[in-house]
Amino acid sequence: MKINIKEAKSLLLSGEVVAIPTETVYGLAALATNGDAVEKIFKLKGRPSHNPLILHVRSADECLHYVASIPDGLEALMSAFWPGPLTLVLPIKEELILPAVRANLQTAAFRMPKHELALQLLQEVSPLVAPSANISGSPSSTNCEHVEHDFGKDFPVLDGASAQHGVESTILVFRDSLWHVARLGAISQEELASHLGYVPALVVATSHTPICPGQLLAHYAPKAELHLVGPIHEVVIGFGSRHYPGAKRLFLLSDTLDAEESAHRLYTILRRLDQENIPEAWVDMDFPDHGLWKTVRERLTRAASR
Ligand code: TXA
Ligand code: MG
Repeated sequence: MKINIKEAKSLLLSGEVVAIPTETVYGLAALATNGDAVEKIFKLKGRPSHNPLILHVRSADECLHYVASIPDGLEALMSAFWPGPLTLVLPIKEELILPAVRANLQTAAFRMPKHELALQLLQEVSPLVAPSANISGSPSSTNCEHVEHDFGKDFPVLDGASAQHGVESTILVFRDSLWHVARLGAISQEELASHLGYVPALVVATSHTPICPGQLLAHYAPKAELHLVGPIHEVVIGFGSRHYPGAKRLFLLSDTLDAEESAHRLYTILRRLDQENIPEAWVDMDFPDHGLWKTVRERLTRAASR
């Protein structure tokens, strides 16, 4: 059910959860200071309580209010990428952020979304916690219809059209004096390098080092089985400029090899497979291994490994 900013604000203030648009994917938003509302989010998504949420703020200053110490380069990152699809994990003043929001960690994740409606709403109510608006484990929502599919026609959605990037924000954590990528996302390592002066390494979460707890969980997966290697199947996820012998149905990531377009279409395609009860598809993984392509590759690999 589409709602406007005024309605979104009043629902949030009364402790309800509403879906909001961002430039990456849609989020399920609640007031970060309302424990009951935060709990509703975990229930709605079926999300394990050890997977912390991102706080969405309206400005860098608002974020700094919660931060216990400022890692090197923080302000440069904020001024280069905020508002935008970069989430920063920072040490916090613990008494200021509910433990449920940050899964009891001594850090919290922050981002300032670059979406006019989200920013207008945040001017009125903030900070908002907002995980991606999907049932835990399945592909994120990139439009209002996706949200309604997962949470029902009556679920309140602030409609901000189709999400610009279509994949989640990039998450950075500061470890051993350097920034590291905890989740690949809409901003590439190369783009970050041009501001940091070094390429932030990708840290892979393991159960011994749960740097980004969400990265340990099954993610982004449709019910359909995805084949990333082996012979071409009848249903193909690939590129318009290529020929796939034997394919009966082609879902286009992009026409020519376009990383932005492929990211933008990715979750819609994965969701379409399930909407059409397609049991399996073959994915053309023959695309470059730099920039945003790395994010596309990572999401497809995780989507295939259910
Ligand atoms: O683009 C996005 O970031 C979207 C939009 C809605 O803003 N949000 C999003 O939230 O992707 P979610 O909840 O689906 O993913 C948040 C990720 C999880 O993998 C979680 O483990 C990680 O952020 N995270 C949150 N707090 C953290 C912390 N303190 N330390 C490490 N990782 C953290
Ligand atoms: Mg998510």
